[in-house]
Amino acid sequence: MQEKPTQPLSPSEMNPLSSLDVWEDDLLERYPDPETIAKEKSTEEYRNYETPGRDTVREFYRLNHTYQTYDFVQEKRAEFLKFDRKEMSVWDAFNFLNELVDDSDPDTDLDQFQHLLQTSEAIRADGHPDWMVLAGLFHDMGKVLCLFGEPQWAVVGDTFPVGCAYSDKIVYPEFFKNNPDYSDARYQTPNGVYSAGCGLRNVHMSWGHDEYVYHMLKDYLPEPALYMLRYHSFYAQHREHAYDHLMDDHDRELFKWVNLFNPYDLYSKNPTPPNWTELRPYYESLVAKYLPATIKF
Ligand SMILES: [Fe+2]
Ligand SMILES: [Fe+2]
Repeated sequence: MQEKPTQPLSPSEMNPLSSLDVWEDDLLERYPDPETIAKEKSTEEYRNYETPGRDTVREFYRLNHTYQTYDFVQEKRAEFLKFDRKEMSVWDAFNFLNELVDDSDPDTDLDQFQHLLQTSEAIRADGHPDWMVLAGLFHDMGKVLCLFGEPQWAVVGDTFPVGCAYSDKIVYPEFFKNNPDYSDARYQTPNGVYSAGCGLRNVHMSWGHDEYVYHMLKDYLPEPALYMLRYHSFYAQHREHAYDHLMDDHDRELFKWVNLFNPYDLYSKNPTPPNWTELRPYYESLVAKYLPATIKF
């Protein structure tokens, strides 16, 4: 029996997590240091780790794995890649993103912009190219999808290819049994609708903030920055190497940049907010160097 989202989704099917940060906090438990690959044992330890958020994270992945079908991805691409919703200056866009407030723990969590700024500042402090700093500043801009009424499981979460077999290296792989694609023979061979080594540019990923921000900025940033934006939540590949068979040499070369980027996203969180007044002139000129006056959403 194929499971489809009921219309409309209930509030708990839309947003099981108290905030998007719960997913990222959970990533830190799965990948506590930059070198971690979730081996059998650490996966088991991770599962047994008791935190209040664990059940909501599980429910979040149940919904994500159930509803992110190949057809769902095509629908969302058609809907959002027209970029006909809004047009804003970069700074208005950050203010808009910050409307995503986390009311679960207002004292300890920084807003979205602070996370972006801490990521970009950590990249800058290590002397990386300025376009990588800009990728850090923008990598989660796609989370505005939540403000357009999209459910959390269609905005965040680990991403994975659709249209081919699911890897058991993806977190909570057992929930893919609920996905209609799981019983569709076209989609359940290792290469599925793709061919071996076809390159990720030919592969459709589950829909979310990564793919959306990639398309938003694809005309403006150098390719390594675009890979960082597009694949930063593809943990099954950049940590677990589960989809080597779909990648080509170009992807392998560019994934060095994705791997370089990931620790800045995951480990740069700090309770002290950066001093925006001091930083502002640098970022204004960085944004002006690469981006047009307004961005389309
Ligand atoms: Fe992200
Ligand atoms: Fe992030």
